[in-house]
Amino acid sequence: TKTLPIQLPLDFSSIQSVPESHAWPESNEDQVENNGDGSLVLPIIDLNDPKAMELIGYACENWGAFQLKNHGISKSVIEELEVETKRLFDLPKEQKLKALRSRDNPTGYGTFWITPFFQQRMWQEGFTIIASAVQDAKKIWPNDYQRFCDAMKKFEDESRVLIEKLIHLSFKFLGISEEEEKNWVGPNNHAGAIQLNSYPICPKPENAMGIAPHTDTSIFTLLHQSQSSGLHIFKDGSGWFTVPLVPDTIVINTGDVLHMLSNARFKSALHKVSVNNVKHRYSMVYFYRPTMDQVVSPLVPSNNSDEEPRFRALTFKEFVGIKDKYLDKALSIVSVKE
Ligand code: SIN
Ligand code: FE2
Repeated sequence: TKTLPIQLPLDFSSIQSVPESHAWPESNEDQVENNGDGSLVLPIIDLNDPKAMELIGYACENWGAFQLKNHGISKSVIEELEVETKRLFDLPKEQKLKALRSRDNPTGYGTFWITPFFQQRMWQEGFTIIASAVQDAKKIWPNDYQRFCDAMKKFEDESRVLIEKLIHLSFKFLGISEEEEKNWVGPNNHAGAIQLNSYPICPKPENAMGIAPHTDTSIFTLLHQSQSSGLHIFKDGSGWFTVPLVPDTIVINTGDVLHMLSNARFKSALHKVSVNNVKHRYSMVYFYRPTMDQVVSPLVPSNNSDEEPRFRALTFKEFVGIKDKYLDKALSIVSVKE
């Protein structure tokens, strides 16, 4: 079979079957769902709960993820985000390709960043926004790009406020000082990124993969799944759990950086996406990350504990370089081995 150029998603509009390039082995074991009997479910946390800090800490320790109610992201912001995301992906392929992502310009249309690590292709098309969407949105809609950019900006602004609250609560839970917290929040101490995903209806979903298993490089990731569930989170010792669509909640997961800062107390959630043959699924994701030159090293345990740091100190840029090269081995590469 011929390999497709790296960043070109399939033209899903004309597809009748799963091509060989996109066919994954049916992995039944992998697909076992453990929450069918309702005994163990991904925590749903109310941010207004007086115990929110403990509940969030517990969820990060045990799952690396949770669903959040009363998160403060307005309904109108989510609605505009959905409208603009659909407007983008519904465009003809040629128009989306005008903003094709490249090595020099990471913003724009293309496949998910983990794609090069896998032989099989994924049933997904994406749009990545780093810093600003304006330049790339203009290529797609020369006269009508502003509403897209405004919707993305509002989503980013409200997401940032929420994530900074979650950093505050989780740092407090971990016993990290407010002095230290100042190094990780605020306009000069973080970089945000948005990832929009589209997963078209798939004729044979059991043979396709939305996004293959991975962990995020972020501190926290915020995610809205639209129209259909499809996100699955792996819980150690239990298996894969489907994240259900719960109205008015958003999904939060911890990433590699918070895993390292917490000295592995918090999980970095392994997750994947499946597709379906009923509904076109979309997801809108916000990543809260450090800046490239920030030094990442365990902040817990505190100095007076005899627990050893499990990771060596390195800049975020260095970590991203390792992750881009070794994907799921990155965390073990930077771990301190006895
Ligand atoms: C992702 O891992 O960023 C995709 C999540 C999703 O589509 O639910
Ligand atoms: Fe992810």
